[in-house]
Amino acid sequence: MQLGVCYYPEQWPRAMWADDARRMVELGITHVRIAEFAWSRMEPRAGEFAWEWLDEAIDTLANAGLKLVLGTPTASPPKWLVDAYPEVLPMRADGTRWNFGSRRHYDVSSEIYRRECVRIVTALATRYGRHPSIVAWQTDNELGCHDTVPSYSDAALARFHAWLRRQYGTIDALNEAWGNVFWSMEYLSFDAIGLPNLTPTDANPIHLLEFRRFMSDEVAGFHREQIAVLREHAPNADLLHNFMGFFTTFDHYRFAADSAIDVAAWDSYPIARTESIALPEEQKARFARTGHPDVSAFDHDRYRGIGAGRFWVMEQQAGPVNWASWNPVPASGMVRLWAYEAFAHGAELVSYFRWRQCPYAQEQMHSGLNLPNNELSPGGIEVQRVAREIASSIALSTLAAPEGAATALVFDYETQWMFEIQRHGKDFDYQSLVFDYYEALREIGLDVDIVSSRADFSGYKLVVVPSLAVIDHALVEQIARSDAQWVFGPRSGSKTGAFAIPDDLPPGALQRVLPIQVLEVETLRPTLAPTLTVAGVQGSALHWREHVRANGKTRVVARFDDAWPALLTLGNVRYVAGWLSHELHRKVLQTAARDADLETQLLADGLRIRRRGGLTFAFNFGAQAVEAPAPRDAVFVLGGPSLARGDVCIWKEA
Ligand code: GAL
Repeated sequence: MQLGVCYYPEQWPRAMWADDARRMVELGITHVRIAEFAWSRMEPRAGEFAWEWLDEAIDTLANAGLKLVLGTPTASPPKWLVDAYPEVLPMRADGTRWNFGSRRHYDVSSEIYRRECVRIVTALATRYGRHPSIVAWQTDNELGCHDTVPSYSDAALARFHAWLRRQYGTIDALNEAWGNVFWSMEYLSFDAIGLPNLTPTDANPIHLLEFRRFMSDEVAGFHREQIAVLREHAPNADLLHNFMGFFTTFDHYRFAADSAIDVAAWDSYPIARTESIALPEEQKARFARTGHPDVSAFDHDRYRGIGAGRFWVMEQQAGPVNWASWNPVPASGMVRLWAYEAFAHGAELVSYFRWRQCPYAQEQMHSGLNLPNNELSPGGIEVQRVAREIASSIALSTLAAPEGAATALVFDYETQWMFEIQRHGKDFDYQSLVFDYYEALREIGLDVDIVSSRADFSGYKLVVVPSLAVIDHALVEQIARSDAQWVFGPRSGSKTGAFAIPDDLPPGALQRVLPIQVLEVETLRPTLAPTLTVAGVQGSALHWREHVRANGKTRVVARFDDAWPALLTLGNVRYVAGWLSHELHRKVLQTAARDADLETQLLADGLRIRRRGGLTFAFNFGAQAVEAPAPRDAVFVLGGPSLARGDVCIWKEA
């Protein structure tokens, strides 16, 4: 459980560096990330390197006893590079190019840009790769941020052709698989295929999907080139990338596996994220100063899986930020709470963005641990408290890594892409559906691992699949051999990998373990809400509902008011034939958890718990004070059972 900070020496006079380093250490910070946007200072002109300032910055921080995370500067190509090669600017879907003047203005498919990145990363890694204080390297910064992937450039098109050729071999095979006979979309050669933008109406969904798969591979391929350089020159450091919350543009499982990163790091801005995602207005209002209680936890659990157990928070919100629609000051205690929350979910490091608020340029309205005048900010004071609490507690300073949870929740990037391509109803969003299930699991006190559909499920007691567009035989094999309880949501098995409806109707291959067929589906405008009752809880379908036929021995457990089945089951598999109102999802999961022999408890509003290394952490995000559900004889390692808003406690069972 260590604390870090993001620092930009190039933005401050040198005379401040030593004092900054000293104050970081004094605050309890052990790690500092630097340099990820400093290309124009590392190489002011093409081929002319200026390392002296960075040597001094690194030495100053290292001499103060700090460990460093060095960023590659490829998220901000300098002006001379863009002037020399204007084609590195990415092309938007509307056919216009992004301009220079902010950041992330590059096309991942540009071979020129890739060459330039390998060049600067090689220069940086050759110089600092074996520096004993540089314990980790961060590649680029938030790949895909600001909607800079995909690019619709000529470079992307040429590489897309090659990629399609590798997937399909012949153009006839592609035409057949894509169903291009429809609307005379047949191609005579791979080179005749365009990118799926600027079409008068919908492009073929498989064309869109293949472009998304391709772009996802492009991001991973771009990144892998940096990893190869860093592995060679920095063999002893951890390599990581800082991913984003609720971000799905590329497949993070494949990305992590392909490039073999050592740690999945991510950037956690709970209040801004709560404001930016598709949540009901009532929840945004309720959690405007705390962040939604599951919004960061969701990504902690997701990135722990992506990092195969190892994850860091590379940037943690420490006060008001600048980029959401509204940017309130966090409620008192929240900066401290978020740190413990990340640690409870298994973070090895929580690193704050940023050391000091910068009084100029784009992020001048973004707080840091210090105000622009160098006074510790309210967030900085909370971080100091966390550092002291951890240092003074043996239980906290020696906490073990988290064990695997008993509940798995499947999140699938391709499903997100497929249902974005074919929402069918304007408010159907797969990630929001997964989040709704996640929230329900945590409200009943369960710890959750978020995993890919290709995970090994043998250790789990409950597996929740809110939806999974393509169900393959390997997964069905696992279900057939499994003792776990499985819950599948709507649209599961609704497509083939070629984006078509399965021959034997949805849910496709799942029928082997649960014989049902989805005959028709409907999306629901807000005025259409078929009602139902599950185990005494009343609610309705929202957004999406299916007309399902139960075959064989499948049992119908609940029906909608018009008699269509709502919940169907056979053995250890359940199917939910719609997007149900939240309390119904919770009820379905509670029942499945009971059948899985998992103990559940409905937590007080705004309260969440998480277990790690024999300790239970409790967090109060709600407006009212609550009692933590600790046993009478619990031994408190931090705080006590009464939790005011923004408060945390930690106990071990006696
Ligand atoms: C992140 C980014 C940082 C900074 C921060 C502000 O997305 O990685 O460089 O811009 O947001 O919240």
